Amino acid sequence: MSASDPRSILTAAVGGAPLDVAKVRGHLDAKRLGTKFHYFAEIGSTNTHARELAEKGAAEGEVVLAESQTHGRGRLGRRWESPPFANLYFSVILRPKLAPVYAPQITLTAAVALAEAIDSLIPLSPVIKWPNDILVNGKKLAGILAEAVCARERVEYVILGIGVNVNCPVDAMSQELRQRATSLFDVTRIHMDREFVLRRLIQDLDRCYGDLEQFGFEAIAPQWEARFGLRGKRVRIELRDQVLIGRARGLARDGTLLVEGDDGILQKVIAGDVIPLEI
Ligand code: BTN
Repeated sequence: MSASDPRSILTAAVGGAPLDVAKVRGHLDAKRLGTKFHYFAEIGSTNTHARELAEKGAAEGEVVLAESQTHGRGRLGRRWESPPFANLYFSVILRPKLAPVYAPQITLTAAVALAEAIDSLIPLSPVIKWPNDILVNGKKLAGILAEAVCARERVEYVILGIGVNVNCPVDAMSQELRQRATSLFDVTRIHMDREFVLRRLIQDLDRCYGDLEQFGFEAIAPQWEARFGLRGKRVRIELRDQVLIGRARGLARDGTLLVEGDDGILQKVIAGDVIPLEI
């Protein structure tokens, strides 16, 4: 990288080194994901750009990767803080052979892959907060924003956007995030090699996505539930305009959470915050 390279200016501002994409590709052991990397020092949102590429016919497995995002997006219209050269922000283009109703299986599969990858990097076991937050020590370490574009009977493509807090110390996060977010550095006090972490994430995504295609969601759901940890437990679900209290009964095939209300009726929860009422 030369001094006139715009990446050198950003690096100087925050102190981290830019990602070496060749290093990621060179040792990548994945069948379908990571076939091509589109790298940006700064971008609006990797999900938005990946969608533009998918619309133009980009192949399954192509990855959009950025050092920082000016308009990083989270679920439910939230913002995803994306400081440069510290974390990982990337989006993978997927073209799964799934009916639209089963598109949420992709997010849940990705959550399992992320949790397994992170588990291999730190001495603590990550937990999945339904549907797809990855928590360590009760704090969010990674998030997934999957956006599906569907034709009438099939998913055309899914943009699987992933943000992982890697080397960002918690005290460098916004006041708003400090109480509820963490990073690999925060947990281990070690600066991680971001290329290594990215490779691990893509390999585990590739493996779990392959399992979903080959063996179906039945192969993924038990792993998701083992990390969810609330099956059979009493939970409070905060829905947009009501609260549901009952017992978590696991996942339905369409990715909704099954909750048995106190009246014994099984309800499918599509979105909401799950709060454990017992451990
Ligand atoms: C969430 O937990 O709310 C989902 C966060 C997803 C953030 C990632 S960062 C890369 C990709 N691009 C985006 O704009 N968002 C996702």
